[in-house]
Formats: sequence, C-alpha cells, structure tokens
Amino acid sequence: MRVIITDSYEQMGFEAAKLVAGQIYLKPNSVLGLTTGSTPLAMYERLLALHKTDGLDFSEVTTFNLDEYIGLSAYNPHSYYYYMQENFFKHININQENIYIPNGMTNDVTAEGIHYEQLIASKGGIDLQVLGIGQNAHIGFNEPDVRFVADTHMVELNEETILANSRFFNNIDEVPRCAISMGIKTIMMANRILLLANGRNKAKAIYKALCGDITPQAPASILQLHRDVVVIIDKEAAEFLS
Ligand code: PGA
Repeated sequence: MRVIITDSYEQMGFEAAKLVAGQIYLKPNSVLGLTTGSTPLAMYERLLALHKTDGLDFSEVTTFNLDEYIGLSAYNPHSYYYYMQENFFKHININQENIYIPNGMTNDVTAEGIHYEQLIASKGGIDLQVLGIGQNAHIGFNEPDVRFVADTHMVELNEETILANSRFFNNIDEVPRCAISMGIKTIMMANRILLLANGRNKAKAIYKALCGDITPQAPASILQLHRDVVVIIDKEAAEFLS
C-alpha cells in the first residue's frame, strides 16, 4: 500500500484527481470504478477543472459506480445516479452510454447483480476503483458482517450508515434501508484501488483498514491483501497512523 497524507481535504482531492487523470492519459479507454458521498467531491471538482483547462478527455472512458439505493429512481435527487450526473458526468465529455450504475428500481436485485458483474467483465474489468470509507469501515455498501460477500448484491444498511447518510436527506426516515452494492470480490478484482478519506470521524476506520486484523467486521481491511492500493487521506483521517 502507498499512503499519501495531505494537509487538507482540498489537497486530498487534488492528489486523487492527479492519479485518476494519469490513468486516463495513459489509457484513454480506461474503465473507472467510481464512488459517491462527500469524500470524493473535491476530486470530482479537480477532474472537472482538468477537463476544462487541460482538455482531460473522457470520451473513451467507461465508469461503473459502486452502489445505489434500492427504491430511488435516477430522477430522485438523493439517488447516486443523480449525484453522479450533477457532480461529474454532466460537466465532462463522457459518453452517457459508457456510464453504469446499479439500477435501484429493479424488482430483481439478484438478476441486476449478476447483470452488473457481467457488464464489468464484458468491459475487461475495472482499471482503477475509487473508494471512500464509512465510519464503520464499510466500502461500497459492504457493511460489517460475519463474512465477506463476493459479488454485487442487495445490502441492508446498518444503523450507523443510515444515521451517517441521513445528513443528505430531510430526515432519517427518508433514508432507504436497502441498497445494491458491488461485492468485495468485485472491488478486489480491480487492477488498482484508490482509497480516500478525510476528517477525524474516519480516523478509526482508516486505522482498522490499514493496520487492523483482516476481518469482515471491518470490510476495508481486506484491501491489505490487494497488490496495488493507493491511500490518499488528510491528516485528520491519518490521526491514528504512526
Ligand atoms: P462519505 O461516505 O464520503 O459521505 O463520508 C463514504 C462512504 O460511506 O463510503
């Protein structure tokens, strides 16, 4: 693992954007795994700037998002589809046909999961997967559990995640209780993984992910077994790293 500790959240985003941009410059038809939440916003902002000022070209890029809430349509402002369009896709020259996000409106989550895995495989797999991390060390919506779940699957969100994500909703009752998420194998099959975190509230999760036992109780700890992980975190999230 390569760990980069930055002075600020903005710098975390800048370093992350440089790594993603480098991937696209080297392989214009890269397959990117993308994430949502507040963590990657600074990275997306920098990538937009690189697109506008330096002509970073997304025309051949394909993207797969990690997860989506069950029951929220693409038009729902709380859906991850909507988030991705608003914060990233509508500002760049990506081909909309190359954007893949699990369908939260499916009435057959198992079939949707199988289809999503097949799509990823048909594009040759993910070159670079960007991840945030939950305060409970989840990645994607892979919550602490007694086992690692391999493939894209339905998840029941745990109370900590529902509470953490309620800040994006009017009240906690509006937060969907279920999601569809890439599994741990889907994530671990990516050629390269970029893990981002900022803020003191992520410090424990980062410690568990990088230094703790490898256990499904801290899903991000599995990343210790991946051959090519870059961790970019601000100094608050790095508080417990020596
Ligand atoms: P956040 O979420 O970026 O909004 O903190 C990260 C995550 O839950 O994976």
